[in-house]
Amino acid sequence: MKISIKTSQQIEKMRIAGKLAAEVLEMISPYVLPGISTSELDRLCYEHIVNVQKAIPANIGYNGFEKTICSSINQVICHGIPSEKRILKEGDILNIDVTVIKDGWHGDTSKMFLVGKCAPHNQRLVKVTQECLYRGIEVVKPGAHISDIGNAIQEHAEKNYYSVVEDYCGHGIGTVYHEEPQILHYGKPGKGLQLTEGMCFTIEPMINQGSKYCKTLKDGWTVETKDGRNSAQWEHTIAVTSDGYDVLTRRSDEF
Ligand code: MF3
Ligand code: CO
Ligand code: CO
Repeated sequence: MKISIKTSQQIEKMRIAGKLAAEVLEMISPYVLPGISTSELDRLCYEHIVNVQKAIPANIGYNGFEKTICSSINQVICHGIPSEKRILKEGDILNIDVTVIKDGWHGDTSKMFLVGKCAPHNQRLVKVTQECLYRGIEVVKPGAHISDIGNAIQEHAEKNYYSVVEDYCGHGIGTVYHEEPQILHYGKPGKGLQLTEGMCFTIEPMINQGSKYCKTLKDGWTVETKDGRNSAQWEHTIAVTSDGYDVLTRRSDEF
């Protein structure tokens, strides 16, 4: 399959979907407190997307996933399933990952939340992982090699004594949720395809305090660190512009 190049009109539609996805994370922020269940957070996001945004939660029905958000806490790397049994507690670190479809176009984004007061080592993991995302984004421009993104991420993670999850990657996105190219979050620079204006993809590094290895739980979705240490993830949907990049899922708390 060839990598799809979006026209400026198509990118405007991606921008609308991306903004809605970002707004879901902004909307849910004040609710992320000790005592709330992850299924309640999921319900609030669902209601907002469907009733306020008049949009579609892309995760529902995706390969049989039944929820609007992925809620991934502490040692969960990604794809945590919201549950009424999982009540947030002080000190948890939580990733909420949401994808919205508007007018046929996808916006995919995630951020970390610190639940109440968190241990300094967890605060640091969350901060460095966000820096990893930004390091990856900053290399995006026409002519850059796709592996420059992963190289920038891996350098920053390893300089901070963390590891990069290799089993999951970023992805092309548009009218299809996951399309080519794959965006690895590690690797040597100057390899693979060169970026061109109109490409749209996510960058979504998963960074571990311990080793890079993962395991999937029996529910078929939840991915945890093999060693039980914590993991963090941040995700944006990006468009390649004539001279750099546009972050389509930028929130008001950023930049
Ligand atoms: N949003 C995730 C990603 O960044 C995919 C979640 S798929 C689900 O690509 F089915 F688990 F929701
Ligand atoms: Co996502
Ligand atoms: Co994604």
